[in-house]
Amino acid sequence: MTQLEDRIGFLRSEIKRHNDLYFKFDNPEISDAAYDLLLRELEKLENDHPELKSLTSPSKTVGAAPEGRALSQVKRDNPMLSLDKAMNESEIFDFEDRVVRFLGALSPPTYHTMPKFDGLAVELCYEQRKLNLASTRGDGTVGENITSNVNTIEAIPKTLPPSAPEGRLSVRGEVYMEKKDFLRLNEEREADGESPFANPRNAAAGSLRQLDSSVTKNRKLSFFAYGLNEIEAAGTLTYSQLMKKLALWGFPVESSAASCEAKTIPEVIQIFKRLDNQREALPYEIDGLVVTVDELSLWKRLGATSRAPRYAVAVKFKPRAAQTKVLNIEVQVGRTGALTPVAVMAPVEVGGVTISQATLHNEDELKRKDVREGDLVKVHRAGDVIPEIIEVVLEARPPHSAPFIFPKNCPICGTTSIRRENEAVARCPNRACPAQIEARLIHFASKNALDIEGLGPKLANQLLSANLIERPSDLFRLSFDKVKLMPRFGEKSAQNLIEAIDKARTKSLWRFINSLSIRHVGERSSQILADHFKSLAALAKASVEELKTLNDVGPEVAQSVVDFFQSPLNTSFVSDLLSPELNVSPSLEQNIEGGPLTGKRFVLTGTLSTLTRAEAKARVTTKGGRVLSSVSKETDYLVAGEAPGSKLSEARKFNVTILDEEAFLKLLGQ
Ligand code: IVH
Repeated sequence: MTQLEDRIGFLRSEIKRHNDLYFKFDNPEISDAAYDLLLRELEKLENDHPELKSLTSPSKTVGAAPEGRALSQVKRDNPMLSLDKAMNESEIFDFEDRVVRFLGALSPPTYHTMPKFDGLAVELCYEQRKLNLASTRGDGTVGENITSNVNTIEAIPKTLPPSAPEGRLSVRGEVYMEKKDFLRLNEEREADGESPFANPRNAAAGSLRQLDSSVTKNRKLSFFAYGLNEIEAAGTLTYSQLMKKLALWGFPVESSAASCEAKTIPEVIQIFKRLDNQREALPYEIDGLVVTVDELSLWKRLGATSRAPRYAVAVKFKPRAAQTKVLNIEVQVGRTGALTPVAVMAPVEVGGVTISQATLHNEDELKRKDVREGDLVKVHRAGDVIPEIIEVVLEARPPHSAPFIFPKNCPICGTTSIRRENEAVARCPNRACPAQIEARLIHFASKNALDIEGLGPKLANQLLSANLIERPSDLFRLSFDKVKLMPRFGEKSAQNLIEAIDKARTKSLWRFINSLSIRHVGERSSQILADHFKSLAALAKASVEELKTLNDVGPEVAQSVVDFFQSPLNTSFVSDLLSPELNVSPSLEQNIEGGPLTGKRFVLTGTLSTLTRAEAKARVTTKGGRVLSSVSKETDYLVAGEAPGSKLSEARKFNVTILDEEAFLKLLGQ
């Protein structure tokens, strides 16, 4: 084999592998820019050496067909294509040159621009104005059937108004997750001992490609329409008009200043630069600007290659990233024993914030990225918040570096770690591991558990290392005299802490359940369990069968609760917590089901003066209500605190009852 064939073979297999990672596993290993470099190199080699072309080359297809998934497949006649990319200004002019040459035109066309969303392409098929099939892009021709999942997405219309055509209509667009919803989801996942998503795109993909649509339902997904398979059906002459039509038919259409007509390429470039400067302020992630020939009659004449249409180009942003060095890789132990590798890096500024740590999530992710100590890496902030290593700068890798070896034992207590089949996370099984105890103590006192004011990570560490307590229940044995003697404590602060702990003795039962750090049992499950069992002692005796009969308690949660109470360490902790001398007496709040607010949907906006968000939410949910993040026509109440946001006007639009703080408290007091 020649060196050339060798290289082509390597590029083809690498690109196929990256296609799989991207399309099948929602877990890309390299940035889009790095992927494009590989693809371009392959295309160039194939073009320069036509004798080496192959029909199965990944340069001819968009991505890998999703095999081996249980979602059923959907084949489409008119494939969903990719977009050609322009990496710099001169490549945008190249796009115009190609268009003009292809059309044999005397003057260039006019354009339309729209942000390029970083989510998942989907197709929504309507028949007689009813949504009847939704699919992912997959390899373009064959995608996955995600209809039942899409049915749970509020932003997607299920029925179209009479102004829409009655015949078959296939709307294409992007399902994505807003940055704020991504951050909230990750917070919840971490609270439940699950590994967080790396970025909003992965979170959206993971949420959409679920076999169980009740999972999708609990994730907040959003949608933007950007195209129509049957463009004639809209009866418009331009793409700009087509977008307006889609909006009239009830589809969310992006409406920032960058979604507009542009007469010339210099105008396009101006829009691109402005968007690049403002992208952080958008509620969702974008990775470029899609430039489209505006006139639809020209689309027909320009047509498409097997990969992409000739009438559009995606102008990509330079990733807002920085480079820094990995100083070392630490393996941290969470409260459920999860071992999480974390890269500790030389501090570097990205978009105005200093980054010095990035999670590598788990062993597989670490292997995939092959981050090593001493490596130079590119970092950015996923969702503009979470530090993420995009890739290693391989050219700069020190000569004798070695792959990081993920420890077989817990780095803190030395116990052999366990990684169950089908799980990405390895865990330290030793509940008595000091790192777990510390993490559990922090959780025990946290906002969503017993909410002990002033007891954060620093104090938790201090109390344990001073041997003042061994486990969380010992907090209730702490005396003022002991606390007062601790470094940085005085009479007043000691008094405050003792009072805060005192208050915790009678907090509600669901808080106590949540405080135990039972795997998969977060705030919501704790409320359901509290509502049904009414005491810790009863919960401890529950069987898997009984647990499974509860609404919203799945087999995983049920098993996890039973497993928890099978460990002597845990039962001894719970009996200690309930021993009479500690005076702990969890209170029972109103039932969830059958509570006075059962079925009522609340949305909160602005700041309340007497309650935090978490408290307000807890008060609503323990009375049977639900707190949702966005206003819709189904919302019953908008609670508007100080400085309310745009939700207030949305609520007015939908005629939702608006409660000020006083009215809200009154309603809760019923
Ligand atoms: S296409 C043909 N517009 O980019 C012209 N695609 O399409 C119609 N994408 O994975 C516009 N944002 O999911 C278009 N505003 C946008 C887009 C967009 C994101 C994605 C799409 C697909 C890839 C190629």
